[in-house]
Amino acid sequence: MCGIGACLSLLGLNVAPKVLKMIKNLEYRGYDSAGLAMITPDGIIDVRKDKGKIADLEIKLRFSEMKGFIGIGHTRWATHGAVSKRNAHPHVDCSRCIAVVHNGIIENYIELRKELEAKGHIFTTETDTEVIPHLIEENLKHHDNFFNAFEESIKQLKGAYALAVITLKDPSKIFFARFFSPLVIGIGECEYYIASDIPAFLEWTRKVIILHDGDIGFVSKEGVIIKNIFDNTIVNRDVITVEWTKEMAEKGGFDHFMLKEIYEQPVGVKRTVMMTEKQMQGVLEILENANDIYLVAAGTSFYASLHGQYAFSVYGFKSRAIIASEFIEEVGSFIDEDDVIIGVSQSGETADTLKALRHGKDKGARILAVTNVVGSAITRLADKVIIMGAGPEIGVAATKTFTSQVAVLNYILLEWAKEHGYDVELLLDKLRNRVPEDMEATIRETDEAAKQLVEMIHKKGNAYYLGRGLGLPIALEGALKMKEIAYLHAEGYPAGESKHGPIALVEPGFPIIAVVLKDAVYDKMHIAIEEMKSRGGYIISVCEKSDDKTKKLSNFYFDVPTGYSNILAPLVYIIPLQLLAYRTAVKRGCDPDKPRNLAKSVTVE
Ligand code: M6R
Repeated sequence: MCGIGACLSLLGLNVAPKVLKMIKNLEYRGYDSAGLAMITPDGIIDVRKDKGKIADLEIKLRFSEMKGFIGIGHTRWATHGAVSKRNAHPHVDCSRCIAVVHNGIIENYIELRKELEAKGHIFTTETDTEVIPHLIEENLKHHDNFFNAFEESIKQLKGAYALAVITLKDPSKIFFARFFSPLVIGIGECEYYIASDIPAFLEWTRKVIILHDGDIGFVSKEGVIIKNIFDNTIVNRDVITVEWTKEMAEKGGFDHFMLKEIYEQPVGVKRTVMMTEKQMQGVLEILENANDIYLVAAGTSFYASLHGQYAFSVYGFKSRAIIASEFIEEVGSFIDEDDVIIGVSQSGETADTLKALRHGKDKGARILAVTNVVGSAITRLADKVIIMGAGPEIGVAATKTFTSQVAVLNYILLEWAKEHGYDVELLLDKLRNRVPEDMEATIRETDEAAKQLVEMIHKKGNAYYLGRGLGLPIALEGALKMKEIAYLHAEGYPAGESKHGPIALVEPGFPIIAVVLKDAVYDKMHIAIEEMKSRGGYIISVCEKSDDKTKKLSNFYFDVPTGYSNILAPLVYIIPLQLLAYRTAVKRGCDPDKPRNLAKSVTVE
């Protein structure tokens, strides 16, 4: 949801190329328009912005030729106002003395705008953000000091925001504020960076300050000054060194981040299992004493959570996966202090998930968080946190974080089952030692098959993804991948339910992707396949290598290693479906890393 990148050079070096690189690194957060503002050596604010992708705007607006040692940049995912040049950030005040980039939503912008217009401010955009520079300009009328006017303005805002602000009134500082929307500060060699996410500046520094809600402040020659508006005091935030490397946030020879991230899954899962093992202290105690256990998440993280629910059920543990945006209405009134909510979120910043967890926390429930991002908002909400080892995920479509989330939930489950007397040593051993190898082989083998199948599937308009039991979350996630990056209408459905309506659409050649595990519902999956087949459905199965019966029923199959018809299934079964979506997107001329209308972290409700 919008990417903010800002840089200050204490040596007076030109920072435009760095600000530009930062917003390029954050393009996965939004990419409908972009812009930069720099305080130039002539003492004006130079603003260049337009709609379109950064690479095109770079040529058109010559961003890297902009001058100044202090600058802010933005890549937008529109929430208020059409995608247009004037709605692109940065936004300025009437006197062009203040420039602002913003991520989030200012909920009271209509009232503020009316008040400011009544006082003579001229607005030129449809955005909520534009109230901010005008509000600061107005408050400067009764403050000599820019920071005081900035602070007063921030206190008048309602909603969510991460902001970076530059001004001619105090031209050697970048001001910032954070509430709900993420914002971090990178400490470089004689340079400061302010960004929505760490990968923005990983190539220059791994030293990071994670801002908290209510933090406002500035970077300058004086260092980093942070005040928390709720405590009304100057605060010291720790500087942490992140383990992510610059290579992790680069394409490394792959055509797209998504493909690189699919290929990184074996390493990601291996690291995640090792890291989870080290973070288990207290986890089982939390679960053991729970009355009800909920898994709460959005999108792909929800499908990992749904897997969690099915997997827990295999060992007789009751839990319920709930879509975060439905949580309060669906079960909110039942939550109490005996319950546990497992929040699963790659970014740790998804507004729907955070809202559901806050609701649970207010009712006294304990919160266990599973996330990929150290210091993200979810980590501050939770009683216990498990950080995954997937590494930064830049592609908008979640891939390696899905398998890492499954690995964490499976690991927790197996440890818990062990405590309850189940003999799970073989599965635990397999998860620790065998899975990465099998994932690697699956990637190698099924990528070739995906390339073949694409020739047929890329022309189709619709597809069903069917699964049952442990196969269902895999089918749902496979369909989401196809839908979001290849724009092919793919519907994930419980196989047994498909005869109650969806089958009406099936006609000769209609693609049916069947996720077939050799488990208790194996025969029932075959019945569903037969039903589709007899109406002309083109059957594409994902099944175990040794499963000749399924292969015979299918027009096309992807085979995965034998021995995964259990809770480890998603770790290999999802791979061909990720690759199929990726290859289809490329064949259809779509950019898999930047699917239209989507953004990596959805920080608005
Ligand atoms: O950061 P989170 O895991 O909380 O994000 C949740 C969803 O927004 C995310 O999984 C989304 O559905 C992706 N586009 C899936 O590829």
